[in-house]
Amino acid sequence: MMSIKSEIQKRRTFGIISHPDAGKTTLTEKLLLFGGAIQEAGAVKSNKVKKTATSDFMEIEKQRGISVATSVMGFYYKDKKINILDTPGHQDFAEDTYRTLTACDSVIVVIDVAKGVEVQTEKLVQVCRMRDTPIIVFINKLDREGKDGFDLIDEVEQKLGLTLCPMSWPIGMGQRFRGVYNKWESNLHLYTVENKQKITEGVAISDLMDPTLDKMVGTEAAHELRNDVELLEAVYPEFDKEPYLNGELCPVFFGSALNNFGVRELLDCFQEIAPFPQPKAAEERLVFPEEDEFSGFVFKIHANIDPNHRNRIAFLKVVSGKFERNKQYTHTRTGKTFRVSAPTAFMAEKKSIINEAYPGDIIGIPDNGTFRIGDTITMKEDLHFTGIPSFSPEHFRFINNDDPLKAKQLAKGIDQLMDEGVAQLFTLKQNNRKIIGTVGALQYEVIQYRLEHEYNAKCSYEAFHAFKACWIESRDDTQLAEFSTLKQRYLAEDKFGRPVFFADSQFSLQMAQEKFDKITFHLKSEFG
Ligand code: G4P
Repeated sequence: MMSIKSEIQKRRTFGIISHPDAGKTTLTEKLLLFGGAIQEAGAVKSNKVKKTATSDFMEIEKQRGISVATSVMGFYYKDKKINILDTPGHQDFAEDTYRTLTACDSVIVVIDVAKGVEVQTEKLVQVCRMRDTPIIVFINKLDREGKDGFDLIDEVEQKLGLTLCPMSWPIGMGQRFRGVYNKWESNLHLYTVENKQKITEGVAISDLMDPTLDKMVGTEAAHELRNDVELLEAVYPEFDKEPYLNGELCPVFFGSALNNFGVRELLDCFQEIAPFPQPKAAEERLVFPEEDEFSGFVFKIHANIDPNHRNRIAFLKVVSGKFERNKQYTHTRTGKTFRVSAPTAFMAEKKSIINEAYPGDIIGIPDNGTFRIGDTITMKEDLHFTGIPSFSPEHFRFINNDDPLKAKQLAKGIDQLMDEGVAQLFTLKQNNRKIIGTVGALQYEVIQYRLEHEYNAKCSYEAFHAFKACWIESRDDTQLAEFSTLKQRYLAEDKFGRPVFFADSQFSLQMAQEKFDKITFHLKSEFG
């Protein structure tokens, strides 16, 4: 089928990741501006949870409302259909980001030139590297003083374990910032304070020895640029598409998102080199985008913030074939068939009903509690896509029911919030007590608030001390029996009935690993 193939090759579905404040929202907005999807800057609301909001759940609710709109932003650029998937930068929502990354075919990493590699960047890039996701790096805020370009590149290579290939190079920075030399296009893009909010075209320079360079940026800056570029060419590899697509080589761009500088170059290169949707592994087989039959998976579930309409939106990424409205599909976990009469797509910030979608596209499906993160939807075939693991939470607390008359509501609320991926639920083997595990402490407030407002149930928490939850897998029944007796108090089941061991410290985990060598302790739920 020719048409589906060309639709696939047009798609660029990616995520922008960064430590909070590096400029992800600003860059997203400028990309939309270039794509003509929005008319003016300031239109995209930041959906980050502001630092001050850590104990203010009304603020969280508000942010949550905004983030539905900005969860996916699609636009056209140079005949490509570009889908940006939003990834919360706040560390308490890291799990959400990890899952969204499973729906991204590539990523752009934003780094603040002054701050360099920060904690959250490091964690997110690690997740990308596990899956060999192609990465482009954007070094932002060149209008401010920051680290020396070469030092920064070294830092990024070392801390993130990447091999970089600079595609552009800054001329000065901060007060002395003159522009960016674009190796990829062999041209120079000049920066002046007057034109900073405008989209300007680069000046073509095919030879850096050209004396017009001196005229344009001054002799000193021209000299420095020539030296830098010479060094770049000697030290860093040339761009090569194949290692980039394998996640082994990462192009780097410099610019200032706020000033709309260096963004067009980034986008031009991105739309050309970034991968279109690739085959995806299911437990049963590898699924290719160009297959005739539709398939897709749910990577995110979003609850409605209006408590009177408790419906949710399941975000589905199309993996293969063409998705069609009102067609009968199968939800493979339950085996049930269903039709979607009002699937939505997200163009810029607008949500609208669509009739069809292609691999790489993200669609919103109205859901009243049927779907769970990781679910697969197909025409008929019994497929289960892999690659959406749960990671061990960082925080653990017992959850108690505070209103005995509302036990049912509480159970239902917990069940649905866990399906949405807000947190993970474990049940202790010994006494059936429920433990909620989260990535950040903020989630406990979100859960309590939502249980009360959406499910009319009251809960409280109690400390449960654990370092990590480890999914256990044993190759020896006797050893497992011995382990189970010894560690009885620390054994639980996750929501799917898989056995979990709570290690109370790094040390006790190590001891267990040494003593029980036939048992493997996994820090994520998908292995093998
Ligand atoms: P995030 O989504 O990664 O968290 O970052 P965001 O885009 O919200 O940017 C964080 C702050 O950095 C914002 O300032 C933003 O204006 C600023 N910023 C982004 N790009 C650049 C740049 O190229 N140069 C400079 N100098 N600043 C940049 P803020 O004061 O925190 O927010 P706001 O009040 O301006 O929205």
